[in-house]
This record gives sequence, C-alpha cells and structure tokens, in this order.
Amino acid sequence: MDTLWQVLIALLVVVVTLMVGLKMYVEAIKGRCSSTRDLTGKVVVVTGANTGIGFCTAENLALRNARVILACRNEKKAKDAVQRIRAATGNKEVVYQHLDISLLSSVRTFVKQFLLEESRLDILINNAGVAGMQFSKTEEGFETTFVTNYLGHFLLTNLLLDKLKQCGPSRVVNVSSMVHNWSKKFHLDDMNGEKSYSIQLAYYNSKLANILFTRELARRSQETGVMAYSLHPGAVQSEVWRNVPRLHWVFLAIPLYLYFKTSEEGAQTSIYCAVSEDVAEESGKYYVDCRQAEDQASDTSRDMGLARKLWEYSERVTGLATSDN
Ligand SMILES: NC(=O)c1ccc[n+]([C@@H]2O[C@H](COP(=O)([O-])OP(=O)(O)OC[C@H]3O[C@@H](n4cnc5c(N)ncnc54)[C@H](OP(=O)(O)O)[C@@H]3O)[C@@H](O)[C@H]2O)c1
Repeated sequence: MDTLWQVLIALLVVVVTLMVGLKMYVEAIKGRCSSTRDLTGKVVVVTGANTGIGFCTAENLALRNARVILACRNEKKAKDAVQRIRAATGNKEVVYQHLDISLLSSVRTFVKQFLLEESRLDILINNAGVAGMQFSKTEEGFETTFVTNYLGHFLLTNLLLDKLKQCGPSRVVNVSSMVHNWSKKFHLDDMNGEKSYSIQLAYYNSKLANILFTRELARRSQETGVMAYSLHPGAVQSEVWRNVPRLHWVFLAIPLYLYFKTSEEGAQTSIYCAVSEDVAEESGKYYVDCRQAEDQASDTSRDMGLARKLWEYSERVTGLATSDN
C-alpha cells in the first residue's frame, strides 16, 4: 500500500511539474505589441468587434485615438460594446455600423453607407468569424463558415479598396489561424461544401483562404500603398468556442482556462499588424505572437497559383468580376 501511495505521489509531482512548466512556457512566448503609435485622424473598421479578440482590438485602437467603426451583426451587443469602449477609453469617436458579413447584400449596404459617411479608411481589420458550424447555407446560397470567415471579407475589402488606396499607406489585417495547416480538400469546385462537408475542415479551409487572400491582395496592391497581413492570434478564451459540443468540453475546459490567452492577449498580433512600424514595409506575410512567422505557415498557403485562382473564383461568385459593385 505504501508503495502505491509513493507511486501516486510521484506521478502527481510529475504531472504538476509538467503543468507548471507548460504554463511558464506559454507565458514566455506570448507576444505583446510594444508600439505606442497614436492614430489621431485615422479611421479603422473592425468586423466582429462586439466581443472577444475583435472587441479588444477595437478598444486598443480607440485608446490610440482612432475613429473606430464596430462592424457587427447584433445591434444590442454592438451598442453595448461601443458604450464600454467609450467609457474605458474616453474616445467618443467609436461607433457601430450594422454588418452581417455572411450576407453579400449586407456587405454592399455597409460599404455604401460607410462611403457616404466616412471620408477615410486607414485600417481594415477582418476579424469576424465562426467555428464549429453544422452544414448550413445562407439565404444567398453560400456555406456559412466559408462566407463568414472568408468570402464576405473578400468582398468587403475589395469594395473598400479604392478608399484604402486613397488613404495609403493603409493596412488590411486578416485574422486567420494556425489550424490552416490542417486544411485538406481545399477544392475550388466545392468551396460550398456540397460534395463533402466536415465542421473542422470548413473552418480550416476558411482560415487557409484568409492567408491566400492576404498574399494575393499584397501582390495585386504593390505600389498602391495598401499593405496586407494575416495572423494567428493564439489559442484564445473567447466566444468562438460557443458551438463546441458539450462532450468536447471534458477535454477543452482545462487547457482553455489554464493555458489559453485572454482576448486582450489574443488581440496583440492584430494590433501589431495594424499599427507597428516594424511591419510598415512588409506586405502579404503571416504573423504569430507579434512576429513574422512564415515558418509556421503551410506550403499550401504559399501557393500563389492557388491564391490567384481563389481570387478569381471569389470575384466570380461575389459578382465583382462582372459589376462595379
Ligand atoms: N479564439 C481562438 O482561439 C482563435 C484562434 C484562431 C483564430 N481565431 C479567429 O479570431 C477571430 C475572432 O474570434 P474570437 O475568438 O474573438 O471569437 P468570438 O468571441 O466568437 O468573436 C467572433 C466575432 O465575430 C462576429 N461574427 C460572427 N458571425 C458574424 C457575421 N455573420 N457578421 C458579423 N459578425 C459576425 C461575432 O458576432 P456575434 O457576437 O454577433 O456572434 C463576434 O463579434 C475569428 O476570425 C476566429 O476564427 C480565434
């Protein structure tokens, strides 16, 4: 019996040591944006800014005195976020404008109103995202994860591109994820997931599309003053886990609460890409923990042939190729 207790205690010591060691490692590699850049006179749009990483990004940019537009789908949550950011920063130039990024019609309405009301756009943060979605299509016929995480932002960026060029140097920041590395079956003839769909793959593919889009945008925008960045924010405590099935929480709960970044920490790389002078001359690259991390991007994410094809496909299905708007 004594021996059993000794083994159990030894095991406990090993597990606790490993957990503490992992915690120390995770804390040590967290990146923080050290730029003190002021954004007075600049206009910023953050999609999905009413909670999580987007909220903390918007709050930080408001603290730097930018005019910040929270582009959100839920009016109540967005207005509440505006009040919280105004109260925390003292910046009254924080406003809500309705945007359901999963509907191309909503993207077009948002852009029309934005261009009527705003004279500039300096930073666009494509942050809104969903994960863990069962297969579903929007009323416009696009698979929900694909259109929310990628296609809507493709259209939004393109419709705002002239304004971004006018205001250059300007920046487009696309919030991707390290899980783009796990993307398989990225087939342009089935982006809507009609032939085969998996909850995980739909998310991974959408995050790969974010990086391919960034690279092609950077290529097409050379010499225009528009710079493009993609990033992995880290594993972050946020509402993105809301669709995770109850059973999976058995495995997720401990890492989530012990090791995942807070949303404020998770926003640091978005903020870095949006403001840091370190990256002012870099375009099309991938960032993690406030550092360029091309070594962590997949080979597929560097396939410029695929990036061009995805762009052309996206132009076609959004109607950009055939109309002015
Ligand atoms: N959390 C992580 O560990 C992690 C890791 C890698 C990448 N990311 C990426 O980080 C980004 C931010 O996620 P988060 O973790 O902060 O998640 P979150 O807390 O769930 O925030 C997502 C935001 O997107 C908004 N959104 C979703 N669908 C939308 C739509 N159709 N139109 C407009 N807004 C919409 C949500 O609005 P509602 O509140 O109305 O739903 C919310 O404001 C996402 O692109 C996500 O893929 C997160």
